[in-house]
Amino acid sequence: MQRLFAAGVGGVLLGVVLFSGSASVGADKDKKDVPSVEDIMKVINKPKGLHKAVGKALAEDTVKWDAVAKMSKEYNELASVLGKNPCPKGNAGSWDKLCKSYAADAKALDEAAGKKDKAAAVTAMGKLNKSCQGCHDEHR
Ligand code: HEC
Repeated sequence: MQRLFAAGVGGVLLGVVLFSGSASVGADKDKKDVPSVEDIMKVINKPKGLHKAVGKALAEDTVKWDAVAKMSKEYNELASVLGKNPCPKGNAGSWDKLCKSYAADAKALDEAAGKKDKAAAVTAMGKLNKSCQGCHDEHR
């Protein structure tokens, strides 16, 4: 009984955990297994989310690349499935396009972190920073 309870609590750790379990199966999975747009936005973009944390980490004199890479990996994984959610509002073609570009920028960030390439990481963050409003205006 107690074991069951503990497992339940562990499972509460956000949709991210749920997602990482199904990551390898990715494309073949039903949409229901994809974290929602809201969940992805919360994990990446809430005030204490990955985006802010990566930005802060990159601004340090000595960048802690291990920490950045851990965050950028999750960032990339989540951004890569945003577009598997149906278009929430507005034009579906636009949603597709903006999600692809968002995913590409997150991937560039993760690759830069893997190479400890600060200039590339900062460039990718700059692109991600510019992505928010366009997508929100159209699809939020
Ligand atoms: C490709 C589209 C897209 C991009 C890019 C995007 N967002 Fe969003 N965002 C959305 C949509 C759609 C919602 C509404 C989700 C919902 O509530 O169902 C949303 C919701 C949010 C929310 C509210 C989450 C909550 O608590 O419900 C925040 C905060 C947010 N976005 C921040 C950002 C920031 C910051 C960026 C850029 C760094 C960004 N978003 C980039 C589409 C996008």
